Amino acid sequence: MKPILINGWHFEQEEYYKSWSEGILLTASIETSNICNLACSYCFREEKNVVSKKRLNNELTLEESLKLIDDLAQLGVRCINIAGAGEPLLDPHLPAMLERIFSYNIIPLIATNGSCINDFWINKFKETGASVMIKVNSFDSRKQDLMVNRKNYSKIRDMALNKLISAGFNKLEEGVVTRLSINSLVSRETIYEIPEIFEFCRNNNIMPCMETFIPAGKTRDWSENEVGKMEFLDLARSIKMRDISRNIFYDRLWPYLGGVPCTQNGKSSMFIDIRGDVFDCPAGRRKYGNIRDSSIEEIFGKVKASETNYCFGCPIRDSFGKM
Ligand SMILES: C[S@@+](CC[C@H](N)C(=O)[O-])C[C@H]1O[C@@H](n2cnc3c(N)ncnc32)[C@H](O)[C@@H]1O
Ligand code: SF4
Repeated sequence: MKPILINGWHFEQEEYYKSWSEGILLTASIETSNICNLACSYCFREEKNVVSKKRLNNELTLEESLKLIDDLAQLGVRCINIAGAGEPLLDPHLPAMLERIFSYNIIPLIATNGSCINDFWINKFKETGASVMIKVNSFDSRKQDLMVNRKNYSKIRDMALNKLISAGFNKLEEGVVTRLSINSLVSRETIYEIPEIFEFCRNNNIMPCMETFIPAGKTRDWSENEVGKMEFLDLARSIKMRDISRNIFYDRLWPYLGGVPCTQNGKSSMFIDIRGDVFDCPAGRRKYGNIRDSSIEEIFGKVKASETNYCFGCPIRDSFGKM
């Protein structure tokens, strides 16, 4: 059996290769406002010296975000990830953005800390066919609250997770496609708990999205809290052995545990931040332009012409820190 993937990250490897070779943009990541109600010590979308994430003065307007979605649809996009810059559910633009994505039959995938999930959002996600990725770094409430710098966060997050499960977001389609994922950072603080969270995911048809730090923002530089690639691979091998005993098979061990590919770096993907800057992936190392200065089609032409990753790995982490 193949590992479970979330709707929007489930395309076959051949589809990515075909898109690359035909120059089609298969997936994109965009953002809502930078505003956030948590202050995670590890946030890759905030600079080290900033304590709380605020709205930026040059964020895209709703009209610009909707036009961006229209333009991405013209390039053939089939999944749009909304993975920042802050907490998407705090941005009043989000419902209209989800509706516009849905109107093109594109899959919206939303990353959320879960603190605002209520019936309104559950219905909006259902109506627009959204996939949801929720933050779970730890089921130990003290540890989790400390990591996000907010008391009682984990209690609210647990209720949100239960709500998503009760609403059926983890119901499988075609045997291996779910609409729910858990994002967990593999760090020194959490590595011992990862097998337990992974087990929870497997037992509940949730895609584990478990990774080391993205080298950007607060985690731009190597820190003592970081897990190196070799140690991560040891963990990935032990998790793979458990998966084999469940009849789940895959080759890929990196950059996510459990055979999950990274689909956010490559010629069939782009990342557009809330200020309109376009990068190869959310780590934002290579900038290709800004949608306020050039058309997205023109910028995508530069992405296609560049030598970027073809293998679902993470060239940015590969060249970073301790191996
Ligand atoms: C920037 S957050 C925005 C969405 C939402 N506020 C959240 O935290 O879920 C997008 C995703 O990046 C993850 N993330 C944040 N900082 C990270 C880092 N330094 N390395 C890897 N992933 C990170 C979050 O856990 C989340 O899944
Ligand atoms: S990781 Fe998400 S929840 Fe945490 S500070 Fe960054 S944007 Fe906010």
